[in-house]
Amino acid sequence: MNAKLKDIAETIQNPELKDKVTTFLENPTFCLEGKVYSGPSFDRSPGGLKHHHTYVGGYVDHVVATWKIACALCDVVEQVYGGKVDRDLAAAGVLLHDIFKPVTYTVDGEGNFASSPLADKLDHISLATAELVRRDFPAELIHIVASHYGSYGSIKPRTVEALVVHLADNVDSQLNGQVLDAAWYLTRKATGEGLAKLNASEAFEIVRSKATEGWKGVEEAVERINQQRVVQKT
Ligand SMILES: [Fe+2]
Ligand SMILES: [Fe+2]
Repeated sequence: MNAKLKDIAETIQNPELKDKVTTFLENPTFCLEGKVYSGPSFDRSPGGLKHHHTYVGGYVDHVVATWKIACALCDVVEQVYGGKVDRDLAAAGVLLHDIFKPVTYTVDGEGNFASSPLADKLDHISLATAELVRRDFPAELIHIVASHYGSYGSIKPRTVEALVVHLADNVDSQLNGQVLDAAWYLTRKATGEGLAKLNASEAFEIVRSKATEGWKGVEEAVERINQQRVVQKT
């Protein structure tokens, strides 16, 4: 299992929940009509195809960032508002909320991602909800996953843990997506063309270069990134 995801699973205190989550993360396949579906590995999978985390490794970036934001929200609930959050459920919810995003993607030899045939029939939330029921997860956890789209989903969050996961998911998707969009725009404007397969750390570097050194900074950042990519390939 990916080490960063394992670190989050390690925070779960309840041994039964931790075991169920870990077992699922170790074998994140979906079985339908006797056919076993699996997508790119967690290490390689993007976290989205269009709006956010659209690059290799985007899936893990998204889960890790969502967990960090969720932890900050749990602190606010408990330390500012005097409420209570079940952090085991929040951790399990973050780890499992997008677990079937990879099975909705395909990847070709050049690392281009596209929508999988399974995704034509079922979205990642429906797939995960079905599998969580099949694996006998508690209803509280299934609710977190089922409601993580908030007002846009089939059910809104009705527990503090579900609200925390939904908000954290949303904040990270927007943070990542808006910086990728901004970097794409700045790159195209500075050099005449966008930088393909931009990842988040490259995007943050481009946005920062514009703020500190203007358009010249963007051009230099793009050049640096292109050189790094050549070095990584060789
Ligand atoms: Fe999702
Ligand atoms: Fe998500």
